[in-house]
Amino acid sequence: MDISATNPLRVDLRQERVITPQCLVIFGASGDLTHRKLIPALFELFKQRRLPSEFAVVGCARRSWSNDEFRQRMTAALSKEVERNKTDWEKFSKNLFYESVDIESQEDVIKLKNKLEEIDKLMSTHGNRTFYLSVSPKFYSTACQSLAQNGLLRDPKRNRIVIEKPFGRDFSSAQQLNKIVQSCALENQIFRIDHYLGKETVQNILVLRFANSIFEPIWNRNYISSVQITSAETVGVEDRAGYYESSGALRDMVQNHLTQMLAITAMEPPGHFDPEAIRNEKAKVLQAASLANELEPWKCCVRGQYSEGGSKTNKIIGYRNEPGVNANSTTETYVAMKLFINNWRWQGVPFYVRTGKRLAKRISEIVLTFREAPVHLFDAAGGTPTPNQLILRIQPNEGAEFRFEVKSPGSGMRSRPVEMEFSYDESFGEPFDDGYVRLLADAMLGDTTLFTRSDEVEAAWKLYTPLLELIEDSPWQLPIYQYEARTWGPSEADSLLAQDQLLWRRP
Ligand code: BG6
Repeated sequence: MDISATNPLRVDLRQERVITPQCLVIFGASGDLTHRKLIPALFELFKQRRLPSEFAVVGCARRSWSNDEFRQRMTAALSKEVERNKTDWEKFSKNLFYESVDIESQEDVIKLKNKLEEIDKLMSTHGNRTFYLSVSPKFYSTACQSLAQNGLLRDPKRNRIVIEKPFGRDFSSAQQLNKIVQSCALENQIFRIDHYLGKETVQNILVLRFANSIFEPIWNRNYISSVQITSAETVGVEDRAGYYESSGALRDMVQNHLTQMLAITAMEPPGHFDPEAIRNEKAKVLQAASLANELEPWKCCVRGQYSEGGSKTNKIIGYRNEPGVNANSTTETYVAMKLFINNWRWQGVPFYVRTGKRLAKRISEIVLTFREAPVHLFDAAGGTPTPNQLILRIQPNEGAEFRFEVKSPGSGMRSRPVEMEFSYDESFGEPFDDGYVRLLADAMLGDTTLFTRSDEVEAAWKLYTPLLELIEDSPWQLPIYQYEARTWGPSEADSLLAQDQLLWRRP
């Protein structure tokens, strides 16, 4: 029986849905995110005919640009894409507007309100507004408060607010920010964005686990011996030193993207496929997670920073020499750690998490290693039999693979590992969204499933509190090890696994 058919209140998340007339207001429109991610994602939605014809984007920032200047800047930033889709871009860019706004100025917010009312008349957007905060986190509270004070978040069905990461710097600042934001809007108007949740391959973990009958019975401590979650990047800090210096890999990647992958991999099956049921399970599993050694966190965590590296022809400078970085910086660009999830399903199974910039390869993946066969009847061609592994390839080369032993051809009975593969590209050939297309559409649809709820974000910060406190109070206990750019990080991170007779997977 289709349960959703019997419950008129349940959101049916399985269908393609239609975005109502809409005005998307971007604060921080002169910043990188707008032209690198947001406008390209909106244009993609436009090309896919998923935006309503009554649609407007209002870019807001302090600079005094005109509508035309904003349009020209976006055209220049997306020049290759515009070249390929001239007619579509011409139509799309007519819906771009700009208003110079200092979010801390009451006068400017009132001016914006008037502009939005004009746009409602001009574009028939009916007061449906999604406000996207792509500004420095220090303005999140002020922005929410001035929108609320001016009645711009009054209607919970029509007004929403999207908040970029980082949401807080630690547990108490996240709690404080939640309090303020929740005094301005209802929880289901608040969309804390984590673009990893918009990735097809991250959502696919849910489908793989809960749409197949073979995985769930073995998805637990009885069959799985360890889990590795990796997000490796080849890029360095790029031009974001100002932000990154006060953030580091732990706040930039682990507390959000890696923790969200962990939650989806480890959560219990939800009772229904609806936003709250899914978010309840994610919050629950994060509340059960802890560092492997909370009292002595330095024993379960390694931090690193990239130093000079690369090849003769492609020299890469070290982090401390990057423009805008302190020459004695102790900000980590690499972090690896061991966690446990203290519940019936996962008790005792180590979850190893690592991320870093300027690593050898760009790859994000989740590796579930199964327990060895209890008895080895056969000799392994490679010396020792390889345990079964399920590898969920988040990016690039999106897909999944399962490693298992087969008979090595020839006389005798020796085993060797092979892979069974699923590739998104081969099966569907679809272009890949880095998350923003899906998430912008969901925010405008009012679907909170793939956004982080207040309790989840707080649980994620709480999980790393012993580490954050250690770094703050006695950083020498968690030294920063240098690693050569374009390698797999400091060798101390290998020791973290060696203690458990394990190795990091080298993809
Ligand atoms: C962002 C981080 O959230 O994610 C960046 O701030 C990082 O430092 C990026 O490079 C990685 O995203 P993706 O989708 O390229 O893996």
